[in-house]
Amino acid sequence: MINPLSTLGDIAATGPETRGVLLRYQLDFCCGGRRSLADSCERAGVRLEQVIADLESASQRRPSPEDWQNRPLEEVIQHIMKRYHNPLPQQLEGLIAAAGKVERVHGEKSACPVGLTAHIRNIQGELMNHMAKEEHVLFPAILSGKRGEMLGGPVMVMMREHDAHGENLRRTRTLTRDFVPPPEACATWRTLYDELARLEKELMEHIHLENNILFPRALREN
Ligand SMILES: [Fe+2]
Ligand SMILES: [Fe+2]
Repeated sequence: MINPLSTLGDIAATGPETRGVLLRYQLDFCCGGRRSLADSCERAGVRLEQVIADLESASQRRPSPEDWQNRPLEEVIQHIMKRYHNPLPQQLEGLIAAAGKVERVHGEKSACPVGLTAHIRNIQGELMNHMAKEEHVLFPAILSGKRGEMLGGPVMVMMREHDAHGENLRRTRTLTRDFVPPPEACATWRTLYDELARLEKELMEHIHLENNILFPRALREN
């Protein structure tokens, strides 16, 4: 049952349908996962009653519950690696190439996202560095059975870096005017914005799984 005090992280953990509603209202369930729904709606300037109504009808449409909360942590990590970590390097390379092309060819147009290529390169650097730490330090520690306080330090560092990723996503939205291409945009430009919107969605899902499911469980379980 969703109520005003439910946290965004708990709501997001119920499945992709409710995450779709949160995304639509731009309620940040990955880095802002510990905030209550009421608080988040107030910050975002959206009507709480409407969001609750939409969340409830979305969760009724849900075909099957997504149950990462109750699956073994090994499976959660495997899923994060396969679904999010492994495809990212190639995805980012493609985005950098497309942004470079748009800036090169359309640089004189007022709607051109000047600085986008450099911004995505920066995202790439930060994400690759962050994922390497997860893959070489934190995930192996969890997989070897470490739990509780001894993971506190690395988890805190990862969560702080997730906040920085969230900031980067907000900057991407500013540079691309919320991923809306101008009417004169060519196919590359349009595809670039679609792909950046996909990057945002997937990165939020990815961080949500770590911040709201994997890390709290690894810190809690014995
Ligand atoms: Fe990750
Ligand atoms: Fe992460």
